[in-house]
Amino acid sequence: SRLNIAPRRYFTDMPGGTVESGGLPAPEVGIVLGSGLGALADTIEVIGTLDYADIPDFPRSTVEGHKGRFIYGRLGGKYVIAMEGRVHYYEGYPVGEVVLPVRAMCCLGIGTLIVSNAAGGLCPLFETGDIMVIDDHINLIPNPLVGPNDPALGVRFPDMGEPYDRRLIALAHAAAMAQGTVLRQGVYVGGTGPSYETPAEVRYFRGMGGDAVGMSTTPEVIVARHQGVRVLGFSLITNVLKGEPAQPCGAGKLTHDEVIEAGNRAMPKLCALVREIVTKL
Ligand code: 6GU
Repeated sequence: SRLNIAPRRYFTDMPGGTVESGGLPAPEVGIVLGSGLGALADTIEVIGTLDYADIPDFPRSTVEGHKGRFIYGRLGGKYVIAMEGRVHYYEGYPVGEVVLPVRAMCCLGIGTLIVSNAAGGLCPLFETGDIMVIDDHINLIPNPLVGPNDPALGVRFPDMGEPYDRRLIALAHAAAMAQGTVLRQGVYVGGTGPSYETPAEVRYFRGMGGDAVGMSTTPEVIVARHQGVRVLGFSLITNVLKGEPAQPCGAGKLTHDEVIEAGNRAMPKLCALVREIVTKL
């Protein structure tokens, strides 16, 4: 409960002013720069940054050399706030801490949250490097709303009938069309990780309706919807899952390096897409 309320006081020292301090305008859009969207940070006209390390109670990535800060600035003619670096549930943080940065952005008054992640393709039609706009999800990570509810943030039992905004999905397709980018659409399964899926789990997730599987995003989306913020999400398909037994001699074994590599290759396309969407919002 303390964690749920805490974000309100966090931005009083934000360079460039805050909602509370009556400085520069509140950001309209929040962006989680997940895998495949990191380079978008370079195209933001930075007004101010705030390190997570300077914010009480904020989780910081356990991965050495990982950035962890908010960027406040302009993108596509809008005031935006972006999370450069995020933590994952698999790092060992309670899910309530994982979602704190997104809570903070929602408390700042964003109307739209854009999230991205790297994911394995479950849908047999997907190929490495594909971009998928998320139209629904299955959350297999503990629900971040478990615990006392703060009615100032949202209702006890929030509706999840449209977790990803239909208008924003349509906008994403229009922007992709304009840029000649193939855009897939499907259901994201948010698992805990950190191990990748077994062949039986791949078939199970497919059977339950999943098109892509990753280790993030669903808790963040749940708290954003709890606070009434519209959500747009993208999965970068970094590898395709077959749901078949492993090859002999370990051929085709999935590694983190391979996932990062594929994410970096598809990054320019996704960054251009998000930039265009923010402009058109
Ligand atoms: Cl194959 N699985 C999960 N859970 N997360 C991923 C992935 C696979 N590829 C990228 N992220």
